[in-house]
Amino acid sequence: MAEFMVVGVIGAGQMGSGIAQLAAVAGSDVWLLDKDDRALNSAKASITNSIQRFVSKGQMSKEVGINALARLKYTSNLEDLRSADIVIEAIVESEDVKKKLFAELDKIVKGSAILASNTSSISITRIATATKRPHQVIGMHFMNPPPLMKLVEIIRGMKLGTNQPMGPLELADFIGLDVCLSILKVLHDGLGDAKYAPCPLLVQYVDAGRVGRKRVAKRMTPQGGEKQPVG
Ligand code: NAI
Repeated sequence: MAEFMVVGVIGAGQMGSGIAQLAAVAGSDVWLLDKDDRALNSAKASITNSIQRFVSKGQMSKEVGINALARLKYTSNLEDLRSADIVIEAIVESEDVKKKLFAELDKIVKGSAILASNTSSISITRIATATKRPHQVIGMHFMNPPPLMKLVEIIRGMKLGTNQPMGPLELADFIGLDVCLSILKVLHDGLGDAKYAPCPLLVQYVDAGRVGRKRVAKRMTPQGGEKQPVG
């Protein structure tokens, strides 16, 4: 968190309040936002209580605790998150609601900011489609309760998983769908595992000569005619 001077956290429930606390203890200025004032009041009380317990048990210095509490601000106005370097969303687990929020955030938060979701199950790639900065949308999945659990999963959307420069379908487009079909047939025949059975659409594309972007100039059809490169 040290590189994030200003952190926005949206959703002041179980997870959001804990994430906000963590960020403030780590030294960031934090805006904790919720649409419900009762959630904000309750988050403020539980964060204060939690930090006081850490201090009373000697697990945190009084100075760190006081400074963390001073760095936390509570709001229900999305505009207050304008200066955030990262916004971590922890609202209700609904794709539609999250997408609506990300679309609004995208317009408000500065272009360099990272937008993160604490979602447990929703595709980060799909949430990212609601924004104009999909490459800056990540999953940031904290364990419950965040102030005690030291593990955070970071999830990247899109096609850069395993450091690939393109997604599997784009890659298949370059390899050639005919080659992909042959590979699948070999695996399917050799291993007998139904998961390698070629998708009927792939077979239809290859039958139609639509093998992707690979260069297939002047390939001959079985009838002896010339097949045009197709993409
Ligand atoms: P929660 O129900 O305790 O808190 C959600 C908060 O979001 C509520 O205070 C609600 O008022 C607020 N909210 C809902 N829609 C909003 C909106 N559009 N704008 C602003 N605030 C809004 O939920 P919880 O348990 O904190 O979960 C939040 C997210 O974290 C979910 O996506 C969940 O799947 C994920 N998560 C939950 C874990 C858990 O153990 N509870 C663990 C890891 C992830």
